[in-house]
Amino acid sequence: MSSRGKYVVAIDQGTTSTRAMVFDRAGRVVASEQLEHEQIFPRAGWVEHDPVEIWRNTRRVAAAAMAAVELLPGDVVACGITNQRETTVVWDRATGEPVYNAIVWQDTRTDALCRELGGDVGPDRYRQQTGLPLAAYFAGPKVRWILDNVDGARERAERGDLAFGTMDSWLAWHMTGGVDGGLHVTDVTNASRTMLMNLHTLDWDEQICAEMGVPVSMLPQIRSSSEVIAPLRSAGALPGVPLAGILGDQQAAMFGQACLDPGEAKNTYGTGNFLLLNTGTEPVYSEHGLLTTVCYRIGDDPARYALEGSIAVTGSLVQWLRDNLGIISSAAEVEQLARAADDNGGVYFVPAFSGLFAPRWRSDARGVIVGLTRFANRNHIARAVLEASAYQTREVIEAMEADSGVALSTLKVDGGMVVNELLMQFQSDILSVPVVRPVVNETTALGAAYAAGLAVGYWESTDDIRANWAQGGRWEPSMADDRRAALYRGWNQAVEHSFGLA
Ligand code: G3P
Repeated sequence: MSSRGKYVVAIDQGTTSTRAMVFDRAGRVVASEQLEHEQIFPRAGWVEHDPVEIWRNTRRVAAAAMAAVELLPGDVVACGITNQRETTVVWDRATGEPVYNAIVWQDTRTDALCRELGGDVGPDRYRQQTGLPLAAYFAGPKVRWILDNVDGARERAERGDLAFGTMDSWLAWHMTGGVDGGLHVTDVTNASRTMLMNLHTLDWDEQICAEMGVPVSMLPQIRSSSEVIAPLRSAGALPGVPLAGILGDQQAAMFGQACLDPGEAKNTYGTGNFLLLNTGTEPVYSEHGLLTTVCYRIGDDPARYALEGSIAVTGSLVQWLRDNLGIISSAAEVEQLARAADDNGGVYFVPAFSGLFAPRWRSDARGVIVGLTRFANRNHIARAVLEASAYQTREVIEAMEADSGVALSTLKVDGGMVVNELLMQFQSDILSVPVVRPVVNETTALGAAYAAGLAVGYWESTDDIRANWAQGGRWEPSMADDRRAALYRGWNQAVEHSFGLA
């Protein structure tokens, strides 16, 4: 180890931005650079990204983070990738050109296709094999849509000319050489979100692929979440650094929060909210609207599984207030606006912009604001926006408690919205349990760094990861029981109004 010290770099390719972060052995952030990318909304319910812009941003943030602390590639022992899951890219292996924009996880265009694929069996047709309900959220139907709707794409795919990947695969292919021998890989957590992987064999399920109309030849090789994959050949300033970890962002946050034992859970407040509970080496099937997914796999160890409650819209509702209504000019302003009201004034905002995900899975739902009177103003709306994240989280926790039979004692949280004190206090109040946040809130990037660093021996074992976790904030419940019950009753009534609007 040189006197300059050694570091791990994580690329965090999220729904709204791409970050590169440099971490030291204590799990502290040494450098961080971030670039937002365009959100493309071609029509109601459709959400796309330009994958070429995202790859360009990845190179730029990686180079900028290295330059910010004057690092050379030799100072970096490993690089990990973490990413928005399910978002789907199909590209030409020979030219590297995407055949269509990336279709984002929030996009609802495949609703009808999913109903058709469910046939007489319905949304649970592939539940046993994949752990997932048939829903527009997942990648497989998005690939099918591209092959059905882009001129010539199906023939090119059947000839073996096209590759499919979630954002991890797209970036890993470029970073390991692109058209010049790039590796077409993904990890087991990302693969578990395609609806094309069998949870038990951890391999592509050929029958589902055939029924979904996705040629197996398009699919990446599935690797574990923590293993040396290949040296990078082109990623900003990282040539020669081993790519040694890939994880979907919510699974990476489990690592970053040190939720590595069965029974440990975290809730990440990002564009949406994602609550994962580690269930150990056996997949546990939900009877209350949760997903069964791969939590992580380290090297050749058995895979660990998780139950997941995915909520489509939480932080992105604050963005919507800023960008579509213009009643705040920055996301941070929402707290100030909400604090100006004593309570929600009877107003509830159900942000079913992509239908409702867990635990309700209602693709026919759309957003509603209910309870308006002449008294209501923008402060109440801001409050209703924040409260919506907390109510949706409570729904998911109730489903998790019902599935696991275990009552939550504290909620570990992370992500952009946890700096919002009003929301965190309200979350604790509406759950009636304490909420805790770690010192390093960048758990997603940190988790990818841990996965990569473990693979090269920078961290010796998961004990090092547990030892690095430290509490940074804590909120205790202080709401009267009848008030809590009345608010939650109001929320449940509001949700009923969102059904049948699509
Ligand atoms: O499943 C979607 C999820 O991975 C997106 O996460 O943090 O980009 O909102 P985020």
